[in-house]
Amino acid sequence: MEALRDFFLPPAKSTLAHEVDALFWFVHLSSLVLTIGILIAIAYFIIKYRRKSENDVTPVITHNNKLEVTWSVIPLIITLVLFGWGFQTYVSLTTPPDDAYEVNVTAQKWLWNFTYENGARSTGELHVPAGRPIKLIMSSQDVIHSFFVPDYRIKQDVVPGRYTEVWFRVPKAGESIIFCTEYCGTGHSDMSGKVVVHEQEQFDTWLADNAGGGGGKPSDLAPAEWGKQLAQEQACATCHSVDGSQMTGPTWQGLFEETQQMSDGSTVTADENYIRESILNPSAKIVDGYQPVMPSYQGQLNDEQISAIIEYIKTLK
Ligand code: CUA
Repeated sequence: MEALRDFFLPPAKSTLAHEVDALFWFVHLSSLVLTIGILIAIAYFIIKYRRKSENDVTPVITHNNKLEVTWSVIPLIITLVLFGWGFQTYVSLTTPPDDAYEVNVTAQKWLWNFTYENGARSTGELHVPAGRPIKLIMSSQDVIHSFFVPDYRIKQDVVPGRYTEVWFRVPKAGESIIFCTEYCGTGHSDMSGKVVVHEQEQFDTWLADNAGGGGGKPSDLAPAEWGKQLAQEQACATCHSVDGSQMTGPTWQGLFEETQQMSDGSTVTADENYIRESILNPSAKIVDGYQPVMPSYQGQLNDEQISAIIEYIKTLK
């Protein structure tokens, strides 16, 4: 059984991998059983009901209720089980735990860049602690890429102009390969990387050693600190308070993940994509009670700067 598993699938290194694999085996083994059953039935009927003499006449059969109900209800039950199970697995694949450790991922032709909460950066290698849920917040600087780690059974498109998320938890230290699995040009097949899973202590050491990254660029600050600095440079505080008071625009305090009432009656959760849209295209959604007076920062702030400002807003609780 283990040899069969290793033949068909890469090693299952994340907690999600086991859930996905269970479903994989259920679908494939039940299909195999059904296929063999059908083949045997076909062979049996060919022999049993073959034409034995010139005078053989097939009787007229209009219907058979018992048979028809049986072959409708059994597949229906199997399909419902598959749906329920598949949906459950989909939900756990797409719902990161609240205490997940967040890493920002920026894809570009043809590299993976990772930014950590203390400002550490790495290219091509994603460093994470073992045993903790990891949530990646991903965006692309150019074309669509896709983040794929076969060992973890996770795959998610990385799209320019918006954020997508993926999460995983790996119980043991080790390494796994990252592939780009969306064709993105000449270097697509070289756009690989690896996840390096450390024990928590080794990870803390790695993170501390790489804090700041070196070079004195403003981006060497922690993203949230850089975001605070950018917000000052851009004079965001002219309209947005950080202490809950109401100014020309809504306050940033407690904004992140908050449900916002829009002037058109709809409600929006202030997640990364909403804040990004509000910075680039402020008039797309107007919070109830405010005027559409904010200018667009399209061309003034790049993706990395916007991500930093969002990180800053997240800290304003
Ligand atoms: Cu990036 Cu293919």
